[in-house]
Amino acid sequence: MKRVEDFRLHFGKQELVPIVIGGMGVDISTAELALEVARLGGIGHISDAMVQTVSDTRFDTKFVSAKLKQYKHNVASSDKSSVQFCLPTLEEATRNHVGRTMEAKKGSGMIFINCMEKLTMNAPRDTLRMRLTAALDAGIDGITLSAGLHLGSFALIEDHPRFRDAKLGIIVSSARALAMFLRKNTRLNRLPDYIVVEGPLAGGHLGFGLDWAKYDLATIMAEVLAYLKSEHIDIPVIAAGGIFTGSDATAFLEQGAAAVQVATRFTVTVECGLPDKIKQEYFKASEDDIEVNTISPTGYPMRMLKGSPGIGSGIRPNCEAYGYLLDANGNCAYIDAWNREVALHPTAKKLSVKDKTCLCTHMRNFDIWTCGQTTYRLKDTTRTLPDGSYQVLSAEHVFHDYQFSTGQKIALPALTAMSA
Ligand SMILES: Cc1cc2nc3c(=O)[nH]c(=O)nc-3n(C[C@H](O)[C@H](O)[C@H](O)COP(=O)(O)O)c2cc1C
Repeated sequence: MKRVEDFRLHFGKQELVPIVIGGMGVDISTAELALEVARLGGIGHISDAMVQTVSDTRFDTKFVSAKLKQYKHNVASSDKSSVQFCLPTLEEATRNHVGRTMEAKKGSGMIFINCMEKLTMNAPRDTLRMRLTAALDAGIDGITLSAGLHLGSFALIEDHPRFRDAKLGIIVSSARALAMFLRKNTRLNRLPDYIVVEGPLAGGHLGFGLDWAKYDLATIMAEVLAYLKSEHIDIPVIAAGGIFTGSDATAFLEQGAAAVQVATRFTVTVECGLPDKIKQEYFKASEDDIEVNTISPTGYPMRMLKGSPGIGSGIRPNCEAYGYLLDANGNCAYIDAWNREVALHPTAKKLSVKDKTCLCTHMRNFDIWTCGQTTYRLKDTTRTLPDGSYQVLSAEHVFHDYQFSTGQKIALPALTAMSA
């Protein structure tokens, strides 16, 4: 019986364990998690979502308070068009995060960064160009372009000296989206080094509508592989979304995937950036506790636990401090939703906004508990401790379980003193 360990992902001469841990913003897929995965010979992701916040938390910079101070006069205004990111600051924050992660890297694996196009930051092209350039400058092994079509993103860095040496990949949810990307980029004579095909069971934002349940990853993978074959294009394809066991992963590798990208099982590891109390919420979740809704201002459906405190919260938009979702004209769907509620309840002390959420603030505070559809199975991957809580796992344990397990088995962690 085959297992993941029988396969390798090849990038040129480099050989990797074909397990990629997907990017999870904001700092849920931490540097610690990515470093551990690289040590074990796979690929770990950090994320550049809200990188100024991440830099402040990790490196004691003061980027967020400086931005808030600069734009404080605008807090009560619903016109956010003047609230711009300072590009050199964005560059410094990205260099801090990427540079220090890469300096600490050990082992034969790689570390990539997840860059979401939907973080439009009130100047989409300039900020994205800076994010990509700074990550390359700081030595990142690869960049995964996600949450958006990224039709023009390669062109933003075509003059960078590392444009052809760093690994560049895209996330798509259909063969159609892949074909569009490749058509748009023929001029650059630079194919992606890998393609992540993300199915409807993934965490975070989905490349599907609310009819996501009608789709399945194996079928989309087959369509993508057939499309690439028909075009005589040879690019490693990485399957993602709902791959819960080593056997699930092996089935995709046997189908022709070059690797699998997984995330949900790592949300309950010590190295994951979620606070411990929230890791317990993930463990406790039942299938009924998980929903796909449309409260993200990005316009993409998002999967999360129904108990997320950010759902229905009516806080004042915080764009002067954050503002990552402001479009090119300084608009965000949450600002509109919030203004509407203020107009309807002008004297209310506390508002509830149901249709959208202030994603920046709530992701920053870990109040939107985004998760994959398989989260309800996490409790089966660990032991219950005497106090009734679940034992948090090590990333190494989960990684090895994917790498070596067969027959749909999931290895439980070693008994700790507390669980014995
Ligand atoms: C908590 C969480 C946060 C995520 N955040 C992001 C993100 O910021 N950007 C992104 O491209 N994908 C994000 N994802 C998707 C993962 O990178 C990954 O592709 C997917 O969840 C894999 O499926 P699985 O969780 O079923 O293993 C997130 C997933 C989870 C569980």
